[in-house]
Amino acid sequence: MRKRIIAGNWKMNKTVSEAAALAEQLARKNHDADLVEVVVCPPFTSLAAVRDALKGTAIGLGAQNMHWEKSGAYTGEISAEMVVSTGCRYVIIGHSERRQYFAESDEMVNRKILAALQTELTPIVCVGELLDERQSDQTEIVINRQVRGAFAHLDDVQASRVVLAYEPVWAIGTGQVATPEQAQEVHAFIRSLIRQMYGDAVADGLRIQYGGSMKASNAAELLRQPDVDGGLIGGASLDADSFWGIVKAE
Ligand code: 13P
Repeated sequence: MRKRIIAGNWKMNKTVSEAAALAEQLARKNHDADLVEVVVCPPFTSLAAVRDALKGTAIGLGAQNMHWEKSGAYTGEISAEMVVSTGCRYVIIGHSERRQYFAESDEMVNRKILAALQTELTPIVCVGELLDERQSDQTEIVINRQVRGAFAHLDDVQASRVVLAYEPVWAIGTGQVATPEQAQEVHAFIRSLIRQMYGDAVADGLRIQYGGSMKASNAAELLRQPDVDGGLIGGASLDADSFWGIVKAE
């Protein structure tokens, strides 16, 4: 049985005090941590405040990005070790907004994953096709390239530490959620790729989140799909009640 993982990606939202207020609201909520792993990923500037607000809860902390180098002259960047030192156990890598607006390539994504895995961080690695790629039947080609690129040079033990997030770009922030069938089809395809690359144990253990306009009202039917093991939530994670509606989805 794969444990469900629900993560909130706050993106570039909330000042330190706004982030702390949201985290304090989340800290008052309850969930069964044996059944669902809950993670929030605030901007770097709010990590420390959110960590403090979540102290003593079962909600994990993640960053939204990191650099692959350990240190040096990379103005504006932060390393895996710095992410860990703020109390994070997770880091989102290769989000489509990073790929689209900051020109992150599959090779850069792979370097970041390898660097994260040198620490205790769990990388949450995003893949997903653009609308025109789906419309021109390229979805599996794109996903195949992104997944193989992300997992390049990873051995079985490293691969088993990764969480994947399937986020069709056309569903992100658009309100146009993938149907449960569309999500399941790609999730099953991703798992079959991992099976080819690493065999049954890694493939059967791999957790694959769905992301893209997930909210409390559509979460249950997506999460009921056999290969959908969680969610990576943008907009609906910015409000405590709407995020918790997804955490509690059955
Ligand atoms: P939305 O939930 O706002 O569509 O964003 C999804 C996402 O990009 C999470 O990383």
